[in-house]
Amino acid sequence: MTISIGNSDIIVIVLGLYVAKRIYDVLYTFVIGPAINKVDFKSKGKWALVTGCTDGIGKQYARELAARGCDIVLVSRSLEKLNATAAEIEKEYRVNTKIVQVDFSEEEGIYEKIANEVSGLEIGTLVNNVGVSYPFPQYYLDIPDRDKLMTTMLRANIVSVTRVTAIVMPGMVERGKGVVINIGSVSSYTPSPLLTAYAASKAFVNKFTEGLDMEYSKKGIIFQCVSPGFVCTNMSGIRRDTLTAPTAERFVKSAISLVGTTSQTTGYFPHSVFFGIMNAINSISPRFCNWLVTRNMEISLNRALKKYKKQ
Ligand SMILES: NC(=O)c1ccc[n+]([C@@H]2O[C@H](COP(=O)([O-])OP(=O)(O)OC[C@H]3O[C@@H](n4cnc5c(N)ncnc54)[C@H](OP(=O)(O)O)[C@@H]3O)[C@@H](O)[C@H]2O)c1
Repeated sequence: MTISIGNSDIIVIVLGLYVAKRIYDVLYTFVIGPAINKVDFKSKGKWALVTGCTDGIGKQYARELAARGCDIVLVSRSLEKLNATAAEIEKEYRVNTKIVQVDFSEEEGIYEKIANEVSGLEIGTLVNNVGVSYPFPQYYLDIPDRDKLMTTMLRANIVSVTRVTAIVMPGMVERGKGVVINIGSVSSYTPSPLLTAYAASKAFVNKFTEGLDMEYSKKGIIFQCVSPGFVCTNMSGIRRDTLTAPTAERFVKSAISLVGTTSQTTGYFPHSVFFGIMNAINSISPRFCNWLVTRNMEISLNRALKKYKKQ
């Protein structure tokens, strides 16, 4: 008996292989990888440094790293919140902390201050988390106090990542080990009208991490760019914990488990599903995708404007 394979059979086989590969990739990233690639953060160096660490995602990274036995360098803006976070972490996890108060919207002297404060510390893990976004989605030319916000945003989202990395990474290269986690945003991968400059600044973070990974992973450093969707924090203004907008605690527990498995990730399975759906819509009809996103952003803008008018 002879079996003949026609063109349509080949298409079905290729499609089947493609779907199977995608399912395997997702399974590997979120289930198999985290089970077999567990990273011992403490063995990378006694200290972990987290920027923007007194709230939201950064605070949860500091807590998760302390729970894994790392001493924590807390780098953030408000001294009162830094003291409270340090006390909370020391009490709960019995580790040491060190506070460095800086405002990343400035440039003058702050990197010298960080370099001095951390000199001599064996920093094995760096989390470049600090980030600034628009107060609400807005057309670029209509952003209130636009030029000031742009300077702050570029300094906090881009300059901080490049400069703090340059301070911490030489020690990692010398010791031949380390972990660098940079927090991006899914907005840099999906169409992001009305958040244009924010999304563009996060695209820098993706590319920067990708390039450093190619240059320095051979020196024993693990890189990861985490690009979340919505997380319940002050920045997003979302208060209600849902499947698609988790608490920072739930989000970071997921993201940190993926270190060592994947170097570019949303960090959280439902966010990857959202990204996949957006990608699929965009590849079928970019015009429809752009219209859909712009419409949703305009709804958020109008809601924010109404709220501001009421205040
Ligand atoms: N939340 C989301 O939905 C979401 C989605 C995608 C990506 N992200 C990214 O995740 C990262 C963390 O965001 P988040 O939502 O956790 O923010 P958040 O809750 O607003 O916390 C921001 C942290 O950064 C500190 N900070 C802000 N501006 C600073 C400055 N100029 N200098 C020093 N420290 C500063 C804050 O300190 P103070 O308390 O003193 O202000 C706070 O500790 C950001 O890079 C953000 O772009 C967030």
